[in-house]
Amino acid sequence: LGTAGAAGAAGAAGLIAGGAAGAGVAAAVDAEPTALATVGSAHIPFEGARQAGIVQPAQARGHLVAFDLVAGADRKAAAGLMRRWSDAVRTMTAADRPAAPAAYDDQVAYDAGPSSLTVTFGFGRSFFGRTGLGAALPEALAPLPDFPGDRLDAGRSNGDLWVQVGADDALVAFHALRVLQKVARDTASLRWQMSGFNRTPGATPHPMTGRNLMGQIDGTNNPKPADPDFERRIFVPAKGSPEWMAGGSYAVVRRIRMLLDDWDHLPVARQEKVIGRRKSDGAPLSGGTEFTPVDLGKVHADGSLAIAGDAHIRVAAAASNEGAAMLRRAFSYHDGIGADGTPDAGLLFVAWQADPLKGFVPVQRKLDGGDGLSRFLRHESSGLFAVPGGAGKGEYVGQRLLE
Ligand code: HEM
Repeated sequence: LGTAGAAGAAGAAGLIAGGAAGAGVAAAVDAEPTALATVGSAHIPFEGARQAGIVQPAQARGHLVAFDLVAGADRKAAAGLMRRWSDAVRTMTAADRPAAPAAYDDQVAYDAGPSSLTVTFGFGRSFFGRTGLGAALPEALAPLPDFPGDRLDAGRSNGDLWVQVGADDALVAFHALRVLQKVARDTASLRWQMSGFNRTPGATPHPMTGRNLMGQIDGTNNPKPADPDFERRIFVPAKGSPEWMAGGSYAVVRRIRMLLDDWDHLPVARQEKVIGRRKSDGAPLSGGTEFTPVDLGKVHADGSLAIAGDAHIRVAAAASNEGAAMLRRAFSYHDGIGADGTPDAGLLFVAWQADPLKGFVPVQRKLDGGDGLSRFLRHESSGLFAVPGGAGKGEYVGQRLLE
């Protein structure tokens, strides 16, 4: 599930600022720019009304990580951590590298520009109890229901704090993650980590929607920032509840294993029926090209539905779910071969919405059981996080909750 529009479309909707990279790459920039220099110099500002890493195209590399506060770490300790994390990310995402690396900087990414690095922070339900902030717990952080098809590993689910790192360079992404871990020492320890990837910008002749590991073009019918109701559906409004979540969003994170050996045995025509779109170009089976609106009512001359009753796009569609909408922004993962000898691979599914009870929950209820695709998937871990609005100049993420 790529993001709205084309993965890697640097500059899409003016969200990514290209610019001078750090001093170390200036010499290369003098020459005719190469694709590589362009990837390194793209930078996404850390400060803003919303956190970065939600509406921008998903980067080529991603790490999803959860931390738990260590015993005894209270609200003040958590505020200190969010301050240190925010300052570190401000430095790492800047267009210009500081004159001297910070003490915690291992210099793994020393030669690279920011490479579209984003770091997004969220709070899990357990965070509020541990910090004595129960009164500020958003209703929307109610635990997700148990879905009958779930096969969840509690050790790789939930967590006090959630961090999403994305960058178009693997070393830049690793470096950001290490810095965050080092800065967290004594306050929070790592609970789980998942690493993923997407297509690298520049790998295709022109920017286009990405593909997942089943081979499908994925992300076509995502809400687009230009949609009139985009803001309302994806972000908590300025006067929303609780107030500290204004400009924020809720992230549902699911590690979804793809049963690829079973899937790959299906003839392409059957695979297309399961999704409701053509594999080659993502066009809906009701006709047209990738972005032609889906016609769920279309029937063939023999009376059969063009888009099958259990096709993924029919069951998941907003039209089938009272307008439920979410922005899917995922990374693929591949962690080698599982105990059963099949690829341990699939999707690190991240869905963004203003209210999970009007986004992920009703859609997953329908999908779990009614979706032809569910026979080829296994939900192995789950998390729900409140992702506050972005930090202004000199602020840290979550300041309105923690100060
Ligand atoms: C659409 C694949 C899981 C919600 C799609 C499409 C593909 C796809 C190929 C069509 C292209 C597009 O519009 O993006 C997958 C795969 C999954 C997965 C491989 C798991 C590994 C989920 C889950 C949800 C979801 C868990 C939500 C609970 C949607 C929605 C659409 C969609 C809302 C757009 C439907 C429409 O309005 O046309 N998915 N999906 N998907 N999927 Fe999934």
